[in-house]
Amino acid sequence: MKLAITGKGGVGKTTLTALIAQAYADAGKQILAVDADPSPCLAGALGFPDALRAKLAPISEMDDLIYERTGAKKGQLGGFFTINPRVDDIPERFSVLHRGVRLLEMGAVETGGSGCICPEAAMLKTLFTHLMFRKDEVLLLDMYAGVEHLGRATVDFVDAMLVVVEPTRRSLGTAVQIKKLANDLGLKRLYLVGNKVRNADEAKFLEEETPGLPVLGFLPADLLVQEADRLGIPVYDHVPSLKDAAKNIVDKIK
Ligand SMILES: Nc1ncnc2c1ncn2[C@@H]1O[C@H](COP(=O)(O)OP(=O)(O)O)[C@@H](O)[C@H]1O
Ligand SMILES: [Mg+2]
Repeated sequence: MKLAITGKGGVGKTTLTALIAQAYADAGKQILAVDADPSPCLAGALGFPDALRAKLAPISEMDDLIYERTGAKKGQLGGFFTINPRVDDIPERFSVLHRGVRLLEMGAVETGGSGCICPEAAMLKTLFTHLMFRKDEVLLLDMYAGVEHLGRATVDFVDAMLVVVEPTRRSLGTAVQIKKLANDLGLKRLYLVGNKVRNADEAKFLEEETPGLPVLGFLPADLLVQEADRLGIPVYDHVPSLKDAAKNIVDKIK
């Protein structure tokens, strides 16, 4: 199962990714979580210890590695470089494992649309293709906000998309755009997840206004989420209401 977690900025993509990653891991699944945000923060949401986090950096920013593998410096346009560099060792070498969740920081997956022919894009595309053929039972992609970073590479890669929304028209507007783009590119399996839902009225609002996407579940708004962040504890451990909601979601996807 390969899932991309998408949605407007700040709706809770990273929080949801961390929750379902841990829920899958606790259910005994082998899981690879990929942070595809250029400002990674999934490690924090998962509560990875500092010593492990220090080992992580987005692959897209590993200039020496990109040079070593493609034969060209990052940012170089034109000239010669390897468009299918060696990447098979990268997932194991640059990821860290904690409580059953393997985490890789990648940087934005789609780099500036189809026109970008540069070493780091070649590197990420090849790595992405390689990840597709890994034997992990579950692969989660925590996406960069919005729709600009969604494209063919992502859509071809995943089995389904979870579109996270808050009970706001604006976040639903982004969901509409994501649905259209994904459908146009051939991905039909999308689900809505409502986050920061405070009451039955807000849940009803999302049920009624979903852009034709089945609602997979709701996560309550809970001030303990911020407290978990402040204390450096995973939301999964600190916020029972969200842990339960995430487990329900994982059960439904299976
Ligand atoms: N269910 C929730 N209740 C309260 N606050 C939440 C909830 N989910 C997320 N948040 C808060 O909202 C902010 C954005 O969450 P985050 O997961 O980083 O969103 P995204 O990855 O979509 O940008 C964070 O400060 C987080 O603590
Ligand atoms: Mg995020």
